[in-house]
Formats: sequence, C-alpha cells, structure tokens
Amino acid sequence: MKALILVGGFGTRLRPLTLTMPKPLVEFANRPMILHQIEALVRAGVTDIVLAVNYRPEIMSDFISKYEKELGVRITFSVETEPLGTAGPLALAKDILGKDDSPFFVLNSDVTCEFPFAAMIAFHKAHGAEGTLLVTKVEEPSKYGVVVQYPQQSTIERFVEKPKEFVSNRINAGLYLFSPAILRRIKPTPTSIEKEIFPKMALERQIHAMDLPGFWMDVGQPKDYLTGTGLFLTALAKSLAAPGPNIVGHVLIHPTATVSPLAKLGPSVVIGAGVTVGPGARLARTVVLDGASIKAHAWLRDTIVGWNASVGRWARLEGVTVLGEDVHVAEEVFLNGAKVLPHKSVGASIPEPTIVM
Ligand code: GDD
Ligand code: MG
Repeated sequence: MKALILVGGFGTRLRPLTLTMPKPLVEFANRPMILHQIEALVRAGVTDIVLAVNYRPEIMSDFISKYEKELGVRITFSVETEPLGTAGPLALAKDILGKDDSPFFVLNSDVTCEFPFAAMIAFHKAHGAEGTLLVTKVEEPSKYGVVVQYPQQSTIERFVEKPKEFVSNRINAGLYLFSPAILRRIKPTPTSIEKEIFPKMALERQIHAMDLPGFWMDVGQPKDYLTGTGLFLTALAKSLAAPGPNIVGHVLIHPTATVSPLAKLGPSVVIGAGVTVGPGARLARTVVLDGASIKAHAWLRDTIVGWNASVGRWARLEGVTVLGEDVHVAEEVFLNGAKVLPHKSVGASIPEPTIVM
C-alpha cells in the first residue's frame, strides 16, 4: 500500500521551534512528530510513502534515509516549486499513488491520535466509494473542516472548511484513505482538498466518514501541542514512569535524562534525551526538548523548553512560554507566555506574552 503525508508549509504557528527544525522533525513525546505516523503506516502494511513538501528537503533527507532502512519502507520526497495546497500534491505524486488499483492514505502531518489505519482499510472496502475521511468531535469546530452526514449513514452530505457559523461539532481529523479514482479530479496546481474537492465528492456521494476512536489533536501550535502531549501520554500510560511522591500523573522521561529525585514532575510532562532537572524543580504540563537543563527550584507550567536551552534557579515560566533552541533564562526570571527566539539570553522578567527577538 501507499501513502502521502502533507508536510508542506513552514510551521509558522510552531515558532520558535520551527526556526531550528522543520515541523515534522520536532519531537512529540520524544520522537519526531512524523515518525509516529510513518510507523503506524508501516504497521498497516504501507510500503511506499511520499512526503509532499514545498521547501528544500535536504535537512530531512538524512533523517528519513535512516528510518527507511530501519523500517523497511520506501520514502520519496515530492517537492513543489510553489505551494500546491492540500490537493495539488496528490496530482504531483500521481505516478506513485496511481501506480496500481490499491487505495492510498493521505495524512495531515500535524495530527496525533492512535492512527486506526487497519480499521480504515476495512471500512473503505466495505462502502466502496472513492474516499474515507476520519471524523472526531471538538468543542471549537470553527478552526477545522466540518462534516455533515446523511442521517444514520456514513455518507457525507456536506463538507464546510472553517465555517463562520455553527454547522456541527464533528470535524475532519485530517486522515484520509482514497481510491486512485480521486486522482482524475485533481490537477498539479494550487488546490484545497477541503474547499474544492470534498464538496464535489459529497455531492456525488463519493466520500464517507468513519468515527475516530480515542483521542485526537492538531498539534501545530504550542498550546495544542501541550494539550496533545497530555492526551498522548494518557493513552500511553502503561509505559510511563511509575507514579511516586515526585511523579504526578503521566510523565515520560528519556532514559538518558538525569532528573534529581528532589524534583517534582507532572502531570503531563515530557523530559527529552540528555536533559538535566535539578533538585526542587517543579514541572507540570511541560515539554523539555533534548539537551536542555532545568536548574534547581525552577518552576515551569505550560511551557516548552527548546533544545539545549537552560532555565536558571528559581525562574518561573508559565502561560504557554516557548523557549527556542539554545535560549538561556537567568535565575529568578519570570516569563508568562513569552516566545523566545533561538540563541537569546533573557536576563529580566517579562510578565506579559511577548516575542523575544
Ligand atoms: N505539501 C504541501 N503543500 N502541504 C501543505 C500545503 C502545501 O501547499 N499547505 C498545507 N500543507 C499541509 C500542512 O503541513 C498540514 O500537514 C496539512 O497540509 C494541513 O494544513 P494546515 O495548515 O495544518 O491546515 P489546518 O490545520 O488549518 O486545517 C486542516 O486540518 C484540520 C485538522 O487538523 C484541514 O484539513 C481541516 O479540514 C482539518 O479539520
Ligand atoms: Mg493543522
């Protein structure tokens, strides 16, 4: 089987992390985001994966060739000279996607869930139409594509991308399975699959919705990345650090990290490779990326600490603060919702959400 992952875009909403690393390579629960998807595809029997990008893929290719060998999968880059949107890349890769009659997966690269690909294959075969789309329920549907189905049926009646008025709270999870017949609808020009292709398929009753079991989150922005991390850790609970006096709720600690037994972590904390956490530090709903160091008595909540950054003693970070790579926060500094660009030092408190350049 085949799959295409939509990896385009510059990940501006996940800055400053994406100033260092393309979004698909930013770690989520200590593994590059895209690897969660690639592994799930391989488990479902996919042998050919196309990564649709609209920037130069050199920075990703070393990483990808390593996993190609490890996982026994063929991964090809399909590079757009101009952004082709969410549908155009399918036409650009049609030699691979349309090479046989078997259906292919298409994934938005910034979503996390349990990826029920085997169930999708069975569902798609059973209804026999051109497309299957996973749906999930959210409280704020206006940020997403909304799906309306015929009563008591899986057939989609209407698809509305980012509706201004309330239509339904069932939304497109950004995970699809298509028969190659869809390719006749799409040209290699900038096209939105959500605005231009799905509405037509709905009119022709060629697209069905399957309910996504379990959690789901689009993790393309810091606040949602932190929420998604919490959901993911809850689903992963069995393989996490055992709760104890200094571990509260779900906490994932990389085996190469050094965490003082006098620090207190959780709920929903991820500690990356080579990270050090000093005595008396207190972390909740926080992700610390590889190589960073959190000094004694620092207090972090709703924060992402970038690679090789450091947070000084008694510093206090909260309100979805994001430190870029190699940022250094001095002792006793208070940051609330700051986004600090890579390689900066912060020596004084910033109590309001600010971009530090
Ligand atoms: N190759 C390529 N080229 N990829 C692109 C391009 C492009 O020009 N534009 C966007 N993408 C990729 C993004 O990298 C992402 O993986 C995916 O397409 C969706 O784009 P987003 O920018 O993340 O869209 P969204 O989050 O606002 O909305 C989409 O996702 C929602 C679920 O998270 C839509 O599909 C909604 O309908 C859906 O509900
Ligand atoms: Mg998105």
